[in-house]
Amino acid sequence: MAPTIESHQESHSLEAAQAVSVLDINAQIEVPSRSRVTVVGSGNWGSVAAKLIASNTLKLESFHDEVRMWVFEEVLPCGQKLSEVINQTNENVKYLPGIKLGNNVIAVPDLENAVRDANMLVFVTPHQFMEGICKRLVGKICQNAQAISLIKGMEVKKEGPCMISTLIQEQLGINCCVLMGANIANEIAVEKFSEATVGYRDNKEIAEKWVQLFNTNYFMVSAVQDVEGVELCGTLKNVVAIAAGFVDGLEMGNNTKAAIMRIGLREMKAFSKLLFSSVKDSTFFESCGVADLITTCLGGRNRKCADAFARNGGKRSFDELEAEMLQGQKLQGVSTAKEVYEVLSHRGWLELFPLFTTVHEICSGRLPPSAIVEYSEHAPKLSLLGGSAQIY
Ligand SMILES: NC(=O)c1ccc[n+]([C@@H]2O[C@H](COP(=O)([O-])OP(=O)(O)OC[C@H]3O[C@@H](n4cnc5c(N)ncnc54)[C@H](O)[C@@H]3O)[C@@H](O)[C@H]2O)c1
Repeated sequence: MAPTIESHQESHSLEAAQAVSVLDINAQIEVPSRSRVTVVGSGNWGSVAAKLIASNTLKLESFHDEVRMWVFEEVLPCGQKLSEVINQTNENVKYLPGIKLGNNVIAVPDLENAVRDANMLVFVTPHQFMEGICKRLVGKICQNAQAISLIKGMEVKKEGPCMISTLIQEQLGINCCVLMGANIANEIAVEKFSEATVGYRDNKEIAEKWVQLFNTNYFMVSAVQDVEGVELCGTLKNVVAIAAGFVDGLEMGNNTKAAIMRIGLREMKAFSKLLFSSVKDSTFFESCGVADLITTCLGGRNRKCADAFARNGGKRSFDELEAEMLQGQKLQGVSTAKEVYEVLSHRGWLELFPLFTTVHEICSGRLPPSAIVEYSEHAPKLSLLGGSAQIY
């Protein structure tokens, strides 16, 4: 049968429809695939990070809505597993009670399942667990994955100190940025305004993607090209916060505490620059620097436990106080003070860092808490510090 005008028109419109659908497919192909985010860690800050991210993945086209959160499984006093309760109630009842995480946050107790297909990995566990976690993740993550570490602390190895972002980068073979700042988790959980700093090495585009993922109208994030500076600020301020807690526990007042913060900031900068000559002065004026130092010395768990330690005259150990006062949350400052001390003694720098040194000696029971203001500031040894580190 000869084609009628109608059928001709039909076949044309069919061709047109096919052409459109081919275009559609091409258009779909051209659309970059959506990024999938997994948060590795579900403590106090880990849960808040998941909440922040989940509110953004719902709004941003370039991310899958679902955010998986790896939960180190534990059984709650009610007999239920933490991950199950999180998925039933949408709340981390142990580490962030009373806050809804967002329905698109899925708690996953199996680490391998949690990271499967994720190309944006957010690491946020206490630092002492990271080496073990990395070992378990080798060969299990997407090859094109990008990482960011929200972890404060470092590993000290025979070869020297190893920042957590470096550990992740080296063990997993992926690029790792950091995010640090004046970020007491419970305050961000209730959406009080704060700022944060992303530190990146050389890929500004990736840093901007992380900024986009975390930034909200109450959490203002900016990026700086100084990964070591940002990470060391976040790590070292916990040692200064321990000193500030001693001062509070001994009721020495605000002038003394301000002095401790000033000396502490100076040691943070000196230590960072001695370890990495690339560290920038300007980083110490970002949220990750002076702002985080202030908030941690005013509030935060390190200050709080050190206050109790000093009030008890150093007679109760930090382990005991941590267990009693933090309900499963982990102290970072005491272990970081020990790690910093190991670096200082190994490199012959103890005299250059009297505050850091004294904090560890008090924490380990060799000096009483009152020694925090009894040390004498040693004369600067500029000849030892060299050109780029003349910060005294
Ligand atoms: N809480 C804050 O206000 C805050 C703010 C900024 C940065 N940070 C940093 O974030 C990181 C994580 O802190 P957090 O507050 O989310 O945790 P947290 O101290 O509240 O909780 C401890 C976490 O460790 C997990 N855990 C216990 N044993 C474990 C093990 N063997 N292996 C793996 N995980 C185990 C627990 O399940 C829990 O999720 C730390 O480096 C901390 O310094 C915390």
